Amino acid sequence: MQIKKATFKQSASSLYECPKASFQEYAFIGRSNVGKSSLINMLCNNNKLAKTSSTPGKTQLINHFIVNEEWYLVDLPGYGFAKTSKSSRAKFEIIIFDYCKKRETLVCLFVLIDSRLTLQKIDLEFMLWCAETKIPFSIIYTKIDKNSKSELSRNIKNIENELLKVLQDMPNSFITSAVKGFGKDDLLKFIAFQINETKVRLKNEMEFKK
Ligand code: GTP
Ligand code: MG
Repeated sequence: MQIKKATFKQSASSLYECPKASFQEYAFIGRSNVGKSSLINMLCNNNKLAKTSSTPGKTQLINHFIVNEEWYLVDLPGYGFAKTSKSSRAKFEIIIFDYCKKRETLVCLFVLIDSRLTLQKIDLEFMLWCAETKIPFSIIYTKIDKNSKSELSRNIKNIENELLKVLQDMPNSFITSAVKGFGKDDLLKFIAFQINETKVRLKNEMEFKK
């Protein structure tokens, strides 16, 4: 799939302010600063689309971007930013959990993980929650340009080993670098496949109801 057009639709401070649930949605979540907004910009070939920052906590709202007039790419606030106050952390958590659990048009949640680190407790807890809540998710390893090849494969192997101790199945995963443009084709191919599968599933469900 090629992204021909991607435009900002709106920012929402809660699930209830999100745009009408009329298109399929693919959302990016992960710890603050992991590279969610940068990756959205990389996929859409537009560095000004989603706001990025080297200071964690930049994205504070649910941001919808409409892609090819057909589906939404969603930039979510990061979790686990230590320097925010307890009350604003709780506020972000409510926004994130509410959106992930209740957004009926969400097809796949991409959980972004920094490829330079060992599995962080907060990422593990979040993925466990997704699995228990039956939210379909895939993993995206970010910032691979900052690793050597051997470090990268060692880190990913360690993370997968940890995950396999607690998850029944290994989710799909992608390796990316927003800086180098790496991983774009694989990710877009996966999304295109999901879009088609979802269309077929919805069509079959409609026919079954007739
Ligand atoms: P919040 O909105 O605060 O939750 O952060 P975010 O996850 O949206 O991260 P953002 O895209 O703003 O990127 C955070 C920092 O990481 C910025 O300084 C980016 O330039 C940098 N960054 C993002 N992706 C990459 C990457 O692939 N490689 C490298 N080297 N740096 C990256
Ligand atoms: Mg962001």
